[in-house]
Amino acid sequence: MLCLTLTGETLEENALIAAACPAEIYELRTDLLKKPDADQIIQFSRQMNRPMILTCRRERDGGAYRRTDRTRASFLKKLLQEGAFSYADLEEDFKRSELEQIAAERGIEIIRSFHDLEKVPVDLFARIERISQRGEIPKAAVTACGIRDVVTLFNAEAQLRHIPKKIVLAMGPWGVPTRILYRRTGSFLTFASAPNAASAAPGHLDYSVMKDLYRCESVNSDTKIYGIIGNPVLHSASPRIHNPAYRTLGLNAVYVPFQVDDVRTFFMLADSLGIQGFSVTIPHKQEVLPYLGRITREVKQIGSCNTVVWERDTWKGINTDYYGFLRPIFDDLEQDRIKHALVIGAGGAARSAVWALRNHQCSVTVLNRTVEKAQQLALQTGSTWGSLDEADRTAAPDLIVQTTNVGMEPDTDADPLPAYQFRGQEILYELIYAPETTPIIERARRAGCRIVTGKQMLFSQGILQFETFTGLSYPFSEAAAVF
Ligand code: ATR
Repeated sequence: MLCLTLTGETLEENALIAAACPAEIYELRTDLLKKPDADQIIQFSRQMNRPMILTCRRERDGGAYRRTDRTRASFLKKLLQEGAFSYADLEEDFKRSELEQIAAERGIEIIRSFHDLEKVPVDLFARIERISQRGEIPKAAVTACGIRDVVTLFNAEAQLRHIPKKIVLAMGPWGVPTRILYRRTGSFLTFASAPNAASAAPGHLDYSVMKDLYRCESVNSDTKIYGIIGNPVLHSASPRIHNPAYRTLGLNAVYVPFQVDDVRTFFMLADSLGIQGFSVTIPHKQEVLPYLGRITREVKQIGSCNTVVWERDTWKGINTDYYGFLRPIFDDLEQDRIKHALVIGAGGAARSAVWALRNHQCSVTVLNRTVEKAQQLALQTGSTWGSLDEADRTAAPDLIVQTTNVGMEPDTDADPLPAYQFRGQEILYELIYAPETTPIIERARRAGCRIVTGKQMLFSQGILQFETFTGLSYPFSEAAAVF
């Protein structure tokens, strides 16, 4: 079940949140209410007409309740007595036999929670075990500090299988996969907040993101898991490229962002979760190489891999940045309309572009702020090189590929080639996708150049990944895709 945590400061606000997100179950965070009036809360809960979890979280557990435990106990007692809730969340160190008795008499199940805002405690499973032996529902909300902790949480599924009703989740950015794939930790529910609501806990995702994008409630043991690894990774547009396509094609599959600090540990997680394939972004495009059983020629040439797929009993690495880059200009290359290209920059993105062009018989000049790096890439690929202010001095290019960060948010006024005069015949290929239009794009467009945007490239490489993972054609056109 996907539980919507109601984080409003008033009950009216919570009613609006609930109306916008009709969940199967709600958690009412009474600690976040500005004026928590017991009678009004009871009335609210009855009107909701859905299972409700009563929670009054203390500050030290990540909540906002500041008064004494004694005051809190009498507040909770009043709320429980009316039997208006299905569950009551009470902390592990907050045992009150009076409350437990009232809950038992009213058929209210106790969720016995513990929170660790700093780490995953070493006795995590033992504590869950102890709580379940008391006949209560254990809830562990702990903080993952790396991918190793995420592995620990997913181990709960196998190690605590005999406890069917439990909640095991990791807070913070590392823990996001445990919230989306909650059923793979053996949890019976997961939490989400309303869009734009004050976040209920670190790592809480929006309700619509959990429900409609990740379809977290339909993940089961047959679900094919894909994802993206990187650090950071939560800003990635890739889940919005892949997940809607699974949904449209009726595939039982999900694409999850994994923040990863240690690639070797992630491969262990991939094995244990049965992950079928994943995208790789900064800083792991080189680090994955030693774990791949097979790689394509482009991965070897570029020395970096952005797509890993489980194929014929091994991990195979390909580079869809390479093919994604080629796709929008493929016909021009095939028909010899691009004979000479200028590539601006000499980093990872430039490497893919230069190799792709060189493999298609295009001559290339690499221009870079640090000329030695341009020289190095040029020598490896049989290209020429120079500094950024030499753009006007090279042979008239048919294509200019802009691969640097110049013009990227937040410095969106910058132009990497301010002195270069566009003739209007060259194609400008910008790899930056945020913002969609950079100053160099504007100048090239004014001169009448054809433009290929970073968004087109991102989309091209994304659909190639989709096709590599699923073997199916991507179902949306670029214009119809929302990412
Ligand atoms: P990516 O994988 O996106 O290519 P990268 O490998 O870090 O990222 O490469 C960044 C590229 O942008 C480099 O060519 C870098 O130039 P240097 O080699 O001189 O560092 C270029 N770049 C970044 N900031 C720049 C700036 N302010 N002006 C000019 N070039 C810049």
